[in-house]
Amino acid sequence: MAEYIIKGGKRVCGEIDISGSKNAALPIIAASILNAGKTTLYNVPNIHDTQMMFEILKKLGGNVTKKNNKIIIDTSKVNKYEIPEDLMRQMRSSVIIVGSLIGRHKKALFSYPGGCDIGTRPIDLHLRAFEKMGINIGKNYGNITCSCDKILGEKIDLDFPSVGATENAILTACLAEGKTTITNAAREPEIIDLQNFLNKMGAKIRGAGSNQIEIIGVKKLNDVSYNIMPDRIEAGTFLCLSAMTGGNIKINNTNSETITPVIDKLEEAGCKFNIKKGEIEILAPKKLKAVNIKTMPYPGFPTDLQSVFATTMTIAKGTSIIVENIFENRYKYTQELIRMGAKINVEGKTAIIKGVRKLYGANVKATDLRGGASLVMAGIVAKGTTKIENIEYILRGYEKFDQKLQKIGVDIVVK
Ligand code: UD1
Repeated sequence: MAEYIIKGGKRVCGEIDISGSKNAALPIIAASILNAGKTTLYNVPNIHDTQMMFEILKKLGGNVTKKNNKIIIDTSKVNKYEIPEDLMRQMRSSVIIVGSLIGRHKKALFSYPGGCDIGTRPIDLHLRAFEKMGINIGKNYGNITCSCDKILGEKIDLDFPSVGATENAILTACLAEGKTTITNAAREPEIIDLQNFLNKMGAKIRGAGSNQIEIIGVKKLNDVSYNIMPDRIEAGTFLCLSAMTGGNIKINNTNSETITPVIDKLEEAGCKFNIKKGEIEILAPKKLKAVNIKTMPYPGFPTDLQSVFATTMTIAKGTSIIVENIFENRYKYTQELIRMGAKINVEGKTAIIKGVRKLYGANVKATDLRGGASLVMAGIVAKGTTKIENIEYILRGYEKFDQKLQKIGVDIVVK
C-alpha cells in the first residue's frame, strides 16, 4: 500500500483546476448501458472509482476507449447482466449499474455492494423502488436477482431522499412503460447532471433538483456526447484546506452554487470570498473562528465534507459542534487526528472539537476516502512530518491529489 509523506507548516497559495465530479460520473457511466450504442464523455475524473466502473462495463461486454480528453464508451455488445462479485465488493456505487441493467435486459444479478466503511449502507430503498416498478427480487445467500417481463411506470415515494436510490429509480424508469413519479427524491446537483445527460440521450425526465421527479418512459435512447459537471466535494476540500492554512487560493472549473453551505460556513469562520462565474477565490484569516455544522441531504451541508470541515475546525479559536446525520460511522478519522494533537470528543453522531494552537506530524492511517483527505489537510498544517498510510482510499476520489497540492505549495511525496 502506498503512503504520502508531508512536511507540514505551509500556507497554501496559487491556482488549481477542479476535476470532473466523481459522483456525477459514476451514474452517468452506468447510464451508458441504456442506449446500446456510443457515449462520449468529457471531464471524467481519472480516479480509481471511475476506472472500476469501466472495468465493470468491460466485464459486461462493453468497450471503453480514451482519446485525448474524451472517453468513448460503446455498449452495443453488452450482453451480460451479472455484476462480478469482486468488483461489486470494491465499490458501493457499483449498485448504480443495476437500474441500467434492468432497463437494458430486464434482468440483473449482483451481490451486496462494498465500499468505504462509513456505515451500514443498506440498499433496501433501491430494491423497494425496483419492486414498485414490477421487478421481481430474489435473494439467495447475499446474491440478488432482479427480473421482469416489463418495467412499469409507477409512483415511488422514498422513505429517505437517498441519492443512489433516486438515481437507480430514474435509470430503471427511462425505458419503462408509462410515467414514473419519484417523490421525496434526493435533490443533489449530480442528479440534475444525470437528468441532463439522459435527456440529451433522448429520455423524458423533469424535476431533478426538486423533491419530485417525473420520467416518461421512451422506447429507445440515442448516442450522446456529454461534459460531466465539476466536483463540488473536491472544490470544498481545497477551500477548507486554504481556510485551515490561512491561505489564498483560486479554484477554476467550479460552480459556487453547488457548495453554498460550505462557503457560508467558511465565511462565518472568518474567510473572505471573491466569486466569479466558474471561479472561487478564498482569502483566509490568520486564525479561524469555531463554527458548528450539521450534515443534511442537499441543499444542507454535505456529509462528504463533514470530516474535511471538522478537521479545519481543529485549529480554530473556540469549540465547534459537528453533527453527522447521514452516515453513522463517519468519525473514524478523528482517532487519527487525536494522534496529531487534536482535541475531539465523539459521542454518537456528535463530535465536539476544542480548537488547539497547533497539530503535530505523526504516522496515521486513512480509514476512508474523505477521512483520508482530512488527514492530508492536517498533515499540511501540522508542525513536522506526517506519514499517511492506506492512501488508496484517497485515490478513489481525488484526481492527481499530490500534484495539485504541490502546485499550491505543499511539500508532499508519494512513497
Ligand atoms: C451518495 C454519494 C456519497 C454521499 C451520499 C450522501 C455517490 C456515488 N455517492 O452515496 O458520496 O456521501 O450520497 O450524500 O453518489 N440508505 C438506506 N437505504 C438505502 C439507501 C440509503 O437506508 O437503500 C441510507 C444510507 O445508509 C445513508 C443515507 O440513506 O444513511 C444516505 O445514503 P445515500 O443518499 O443512498 O448515499 P449513496 O447514494 O450511497
